[in-house]
Amino acid sequence: MNIQQALQQASQKLAESSPSAVLDAQVLLTFVLQCNSAHLLAWPEKNLNHEQQSLYQQLLQQRQQGIPIAYLTGLREFWSLNFSVNHSTLIPRPETETLVEYILSKFNNEDKLSVLDLGTGSGAIAIAIAYERPDWIIYASDNSAEALEVARQNSDIHQTHNVTFINSNWFEKIEQGDLDIIVSNPPYIAQADLHLQQGDVRFEPQSALSSGEIGMDDIEHICLHAKAFLKADGCLVIEHGYDQKKLVASCFHKNGYSEIEHKQDMSGHTRITAGKKY
Ligand SMILES: C[S@@+](CC[C@H](N)C(=O)[O-])C[C@H]1O[C@@H](n2cnc3c(N)ncnc32)[C@H](O)[C@@H]1O
Repeated sequence: MNIQQALQQASQKLAESSPSAVLDAQVLLTFVLQCNSAHLLAWPEKNLNHEQQSLYQQLLQQRQQGIPIAYLTGLREFWSLNFSVNHSTLIPRPETETLVEYILSKFNNEDKLSVLDLGTGSGAIAIAIAYERPDWIIYASDNSAEALEVARQNSDIHQTHNVTFINSNWFEKIEQGDLDIIVSNPPYIAQADLHLQQGDVRFEPQSALSSGEIGMDDIEHICLHAKAFLKADGCLVIEHGYDQKKLVASCFHKNGYSEIEHKQDMSGHTRITAGKKY
C-alpha cells in the first residue's frame, strides 16, 4: 500500500466517526512515517512497509473509536510550541492562546513579574508565558501528579527554566504571596452538560473539565482565595465558558476585584475575565 492509497482508505474509514477525516488521516500518517505533510504530497507513490501499515491500521481503529488525535500522537501544538499530552492532561485548546496573548500584551514592558498558573495540566499556559518572558518567575500548579509530570517534561523540552511546578489542590500548598498575576483555565463545564459525553471530550479527564452544578465551583473558589496570594494591584485572569461572562463578572465584583475586563476568543466569544485586587 502506498501513501496515496493509505490516505484514501483512511479518509473513507474515518468519514463516519470523525468530522475531520481527511486531516486526521494525514496527521496520523505523518506520525507513522515520522515526516511532514509536504512529504505526503511529494511522494504519493511511496510504499509503506509492513510495520508502518500495521501501526497505521491500529491508530485508525483507535480514532474510529473516538480517541482524540492528540492522545494517539501524544502531541498538540499550542502557541507554536509542541506539547506532549496524555490521558492525564487536558488537550490544550486554541481559545486558551487568547489568555496568553492577553497577559503578554497587558504586561508588556515590565520585568520580573511573578505569575501563578493554577491547574496547569500539560503546562501550556505557564510554559508559553515563560518562553516569551524568560525573566519572569512562573509557578505552575495542579492537583494531578501525572499531569505535572507531563508539564515538567514539556518545560524541559522548551527549556523554560523559570517555571517551578507545585502539586497542590488549588491554593493549599501555595506558599508564594505577593504575586503579580494569577492565571487559570479551570474546569468550568456544568457536571450534567451533555457535551461531556460527546466527541474528544469523552476521553479527557473529567476532573479537568467539570465543576459543580453550573460549572462555577472552581471559578468561585479561585476568585475568593486568589486575593490572599496577590499583591495589591495584582491581577486575576480566568478563562471560562462562552456563556459564563455574567456569572464570572458578578463573582469578580462580589470578591472586590476592580477594573474588570473581558476578552473574546477568535470566534468572538467572551472567554476571558480579568480584574485587579482592590
Ligand atoms: C481545563 S484544565 C486546564 C489545563 C491547562 N491549563 C490548559 O489550559 O490546557 C483544568 C486543570 O485544572 C486541574 N485541576 C482540577 N481541579 C484542581 C484542583 N482542585 N486543584 C488544582 N488543579 C486542579 C486539572 O487537573 C486540569 O489540569
